[in-house]
Amino acid sequence: MESGDDDDVEERRNMTTVSRHSFGDDSDSPTFTVSIIENMKEEYGLFVWPCSVILAEYVWQQRLRFSGASVVELGAGTSLPGLVAAKLGLDVTLTDDSNRLEVLDNMRRVCDLNKVGCKVLGLTWGVWDASIFSLKPKVILGADVFYDSSAFDDLLATVTFLLKNSPDAVFITTYHNRSGHHLIEFLMEKWGLRCVKLLDGFSFIPSYKASGISGNIQLAEIVLRSEPSEV
Ligand SMILES: C[S@@+](CC[C@H](N)C(=O)[O-])C[C@H]1O[C@@H](n2cnc3c(N)ncnc32)[C@H](O)[C@@H]1O
Repeated sequence: MESGDDDDVEERRNMTTVSRHSFGDDSDSPTFTVSIIENMKEEYGLFVWPCSVILAEYVWQQRLRFSGASVVELGAGTSLPGLVAAKLGLDVTLTDDSNRLEVLDNMRRVCDLNKVGCKVLGLTWGVWDASIFSLKPKVILGADVFYDSSAFDDLLATVTFLLKNSPDAVFITTYHNRSGHHLIEFLMEKWGLRCVKLLDGFSFIPSYKASGISGNIQLAEIVLRSEPSEV
């Protein structure tokens, strides 16, 4: 290894922190805590984004409904929502861009740290590797995956494939309501998807969590247009 590489590894180590996230009906005595290894030096995947805090809380609050479900998290990054699902005993596959090996490595580390046995899989949106064909999730999670409009079409292609591969599945996503909203609506129409639930992300999270995050964050539940009724 070159000395520059040594410096890089050292610098990355210095930027690593562990954040702790509690889940339970009583904030003073949580049911469980999830520890996340974050790296402030990395772009995107190694940081717990506010959308992830909100989606993780939703998974916790909806735990009875999700009982026994298999879960795939797309663009999971530090994977807080998927780890909450795993702590609830669900069968979870955490995925992120196949080319981002440091993100996939970090996912394996956080699974070990939290003593959960999630599968970790490289899954790049719009790419059809053999492994995607065996995924049949009842719940697909995606926190802050609508942030680069050039990737929206590929993301929704992957979501549509997974929804078709697993009847009655639902895609639950939290996103910053920015200018790309009309493009999302247009692409949902293109892929035959419809939104069956839309919530203000701050309408259901406890105030002690809300105080630490900001933004106009929405939670949407999305299904195939042919699905008969609201989930
Ligand atoms: C803004 S981060 C959100 C990370 C995490 N879900 C959160 O909310 O903390 C976006 C994530 O999407 C992943 N991503 C970006 N483009 C991707 C693609 N084409 N295929 C799969 N994952 C992708 C990134 O690696 C990153 O982990």
